[in-house]
Amino acid sequence: MQTTKTNLAPVPPMGWNSWNSFGAPITEADVRATADRMVELGLVELGYRYLNIDDGWQAPARVDGRLTWNAETFPSGIPALAEHVHAKGLKFGIYSCSGSRTCLGLPSSYGYEETDARTFAEWGVDFLKYDFCFLPHDIKGRPSYERMGRALRQSGRDIVYSICNWGFEDSPTWARHAGAHLWRTTYDIKDNWNSIYDLGFRKQKDLAPFAGPGGWNDPDMLVVGMRGRGNPEVVEGSEGKGCTDDEYRTHFALWCLQCAPLIIGGDLRTMAPEHLDILRQRRLIAVNQDPLGLQARNLYHHRNVQVWAKPLADGGVAVGFFNLGPKPERYCPAMLATLGFAETARVRALDLGTGEDRGVFTRYYETGEIRPHACEVVRLEEV
Ligand code: GAL
Repeated sequence: MQTTKTNLAPVPPMGWNSWNSFGAPITEADVRATADRMVELGLVELGYRYLNIDDGWQAPARVDGRLTWNAETFPSGIPALAEHVHAKGLKFGIYSCSGSRTCLGLPSSYGYEETDARTFAEWGVDFLKYDFCFLPHDIKGRPSYERMGRALRQSGRDIVYSICNWGFEDSPTWARHAGAHLWRTTYDIKDNWNSIYDLGFRKQKDLAPFAGPGGWNDPDMLVVGMRGRGNPEVVEGSEGKGCTDDEYRTHFALWCLQCAPLIIGGDLRTMAPEHLDILRQRRLIAVNQDPLGLQARNLYHHRNVQVWAKPLADGGVAVGFFNLGPKPERYCPAMLATLGFAETARVRALDLGTGEDRGVFTRYYETGEIRPHACEVVRLEEV
């Protein structure tokens, strides 16, 4: 059985992907502009290292049995683009699909796994997102994902393998053995609160046992800062507005607690400074990248507030209080014993959103006021 090279994703991968904002008409110019922005905005230094092109880069047909790029939209070609991206200090990711066509109907890797893995390695690819459209009738996805996992391992290059079968066929239970470093657990995210609630709060509840160093549950890319602009499939239902700032903050904090891959989907050329700041929250990124790699569990809820807790490598615990209701909530308690602290422990609370020291608590911690769809995330540690 294939096992993962754990060193390729000891912590959740971070980066950017073209799908949410650009969709099918992605071009080389967009990728180059994004690479520049990732550097200028300090995102690379924060750990956002992968620049991934999604569906839409391919030419309409194979040439001599090999995939090739659309020469109109990617005039310099993928290898030159990968080199450019690498020169910026970034890693380069690409997309293909386990079926006979990609979801956009372009040439795909079913039956060509070894050839394509070799091609990607030759081009300097560091990350492959592998989708789930157009599988031949009666064919299960798992063997196809295992074939590509094997092919990547034999390609001679370290390539992070991102399975995108939307959680079908119980993929979290076998993805790691197929060689995957991350695996989608849901359908596509949309830029609205219902989608964040459904994908983040409802669908990840029982998945914590599958995540850990080397392999991660993936509830899809971030919509932070999209504000209803971008790929029509992703902004559908967002009424030209997307989420509120509180909802984007909640989305980011939850993905951090859940050890989700932090793959930005917004357009970095136009994103508002306040939304970039959500993506640049060092304290929350550190929680996401904590080396212990334990995905937060939903411990309980108190009125409309869900409480998620993530033990950290240094003995601290990150705790998120998420107000999912329509009214402000205050004084939500968390019994320290429930979080793994001794009955007699004195525990200091640091607000991971504001950086504020909230003081020392015994027996239980209590939040301040939390606005509707907002959250309070604290780091608790024994003093
Ligand atoms: C979907 C996938 C999306 C995006 C799209 C491209 O299946 O879930 O994230 O990759 O295909 O066509």
